[in-house]
Amino acid sequence: MAWHESVLLNEAIEFLAPGPSKVLVDGTLGAGGHAKAMLQAAGRGGRLIGLDRDPEALALAEKNLEDFRGSIMLIHENYRNLAGRLKEEGRDPVDGILLDLGVSSMQLDQDKRGFSFLKDGPLDMRMNPEDALTAAKIVNEADEKALLEILWKYGEERFARRIVRNLLFERKKSRIETTRELAVIVENSVPSYYRYGRVHPATKTFQALRMAVNGELAALDEFLLTALDVLADKGRVVIISFHSLEDRKVKHTFRDWQTKDLGKVLTKKPVTASEAELSNNPRSRSAKLRAFEKGAE
Ligand SMILES: C[S@@+](CC[C@H](N)C(=O)[O-])C[C@H]1O[C@@H](n2cnc3c(N)ncnc32)[C@H](O)[C@@H]1O
Repeated sequence: MAWHESVLLNEAIEFLAPGPSKVLVDGTLGAGGHAKAMLQAAGRGGRLIGLDRDPEALALAEKNLEDFRGSIMLIHENYRNLAGRLKEEGRDPVDGILLDLGVSSMQLDQDKRGFSFLKDGPLDMRMNPEDALTAAKIVNEADEKALLEILWKYGEERFARRIVRNLLFERKKSRIETTRELAVIVENSVPSYYRYGRVHPATKTFQALRMAVNGELAALDEFLLTALDVLADKGRVVIISFHSLEDRKVKHTFRDWQTKDLGKVLTKKPVTASEAELSNNPRSRSAKLRAFEKGAE
């Protein structure tokens, strides 16, 4: 299984400025790459609360953070409920919150999770296997309008119409159950220059379905509504996003907070990966980091 390379690691740590008396939250723990670097930078006394909606990710993180067992609290939870959960646990306020959005390499890499068009597996795509909605359910049961909206909005897929038309035709014959079946339908729906282009033709369709299955934009919206409630004065929120809709939401919300004198935007422009990181980790190509500090001047 490919280990997840943390994106914009040093940049995120710099903004979160871990320290011995601080409590930091990693809302998208994954295998704990960012979390480990935060704990290492914090030194003795630094504490971390880590959340992931994927129990497999939590188990990996627990192993990876073994050396810090006494300084961490790991919670199986959607970060959309972060504020409520921290209050429930009596753990607020905190000094910093990191979100590193999207999927991890470990999730993409496992055929049984159904995230990848490069693997053959069930059309699942749930980050939390306890959730009811799967990609197969959407692909086989959503109506034409809903499918088009998903592909346009989350995938910005310009061949959405052709793909959805073929999907509706194929699913009448038999239920579409696997990632391979879906990838082939997409390949057969697009013109050949797109099919054999630099990017796999099913990339956007799979990304769009994943975002719909996991309600990714709604989770970010909900988080942004309550994040400042659980942040201490001078506490910081750092968000790394990989999708233009997510980055736009973060940018506008941070600006809005600043206009309301709730604190200041620390990143006039989004921070992006250095040349060195880009050549080591292609996933960093679309990463944008934005940071906000709570509190008046
Ligand atoms: C890009 S990975 C994080 C990698 C991590 N920062 C590292 O360095 O190892 C994103 C993780 O966030 C989790 N995730 C995505 N959306 C979530 C949500 N709404 N609530 C909690 N976890 C979420 C995924 O399950 C995945 O494990």
